[in-house]
Amino acid sequence: MIIGLIGFGKVSQNIVQLIKSNDIRFVTSTENRSKSTIEAIDDFNIGVAPTFEEVAKISDILISAASPKTALSIAKRYGKFSNGIYLDLNNISPETTLEINEYVDDLVDGAIIGKIDSDNPTLYISGVSASKLLFLNEFLNVNIISENVGDAAFLKLLRSSYTKTLTALLIESFDIAKNNNLENEFFDIVSITEGDNFKDDSLSRIKNTLDNPKRKSEELEELINYFDDENLVMVKAALEKFNQL
Ligand SMILES: NC(=O)c1ccc[n+]([C@@H]2O[C@H](COP(=O)([O-])OP(=O)(O)OC[C@H]3O[C@@H](n4cnc5c(N)ncnc54)[C@H](OP(=O)(O)O)[C@@H]3O)[C@@H](O)[C@H]2O)c1
Repeated sequence: MIIGLIGFGKVSQNIVQLIKSNDIRFVTSTENRSKSTIEAIDDFNIGVAPTFEEVAKISDILISAASPKTALSIAKRYGKFSNGIYLDLNNISPETTLEINEYVDDLVDGAIIGKIDSDNPTLYISGVSASKLLFLNEFLNVNIISENVGDAAFLKLLRSSYTKTLTALLIESFDIAKNNNLENEFFDIVSITEGDNFKDDSLSRIKNTLDNPKRKSEELEELINYFDDENLVMVKAALEKFNQL
């Protein structure tokens, strides 16, 4: 089996590292790619085709993992050459996923949950052919959501709305605890019900947000726009909080 990769960044590199099988060969292309990507392709010693069109044509599974901005143009350009499953792993909205579906015969949309460089990230997938990717369970956690393209993207968005809003509340509570010299006690008392990992997880989320407040605000704005018809009181309050950081 040949798995073609459009985009050879962190996501694709981790996939190659996780999926080790004599029956699977990875192929990508260096066409118009940056020095760092070409070096990574050389380091990983995977198959290299002269063009991405060729990659699309020869792959049983074609994975698009480039960037949210290029996901649609990549599908428009190479989707028609794909004869197998087209697995889109870009962080894109359900709307963009449905648009991509118009250019691709057999689309499966995927959402990677958890750190991409972890040993066992979880991949949520949806699409008519999603069940054909269950064999990947041998290498990473694969969960099928439904046969509806866009459901994986939708759930990823909803999850993101939940975790970001919670982080805004965490930042607020942590600040109050700190101002009263009770930060360790705050984590101890909340951990009783929220679990042993609560402190580490919370500090990591807080740091991640405080390091990138502008990006987090923009992501939240996109979420609010997407869920336009919903009554988003909490998420909008989180945006107000992020804008103050
Ligand atoms: N990192 C994560 O934790 C994570 C988790 C879930 C989903 N995702 C999504 O997965 C996608 C890839 O993420 P990443 O972290 O692997 O990104 P990354 O490390 O920035 O790598 C992106 C790769 O895509 C290539 N690329 C960009 N435009 C391309 C094009 N038009 N044709 C072919 N290759 C192109 C880049 O090549 P050049 O260097 O030549 O530009 C680079 O090799 C993104 O859409 C991201 O939102 C990421």
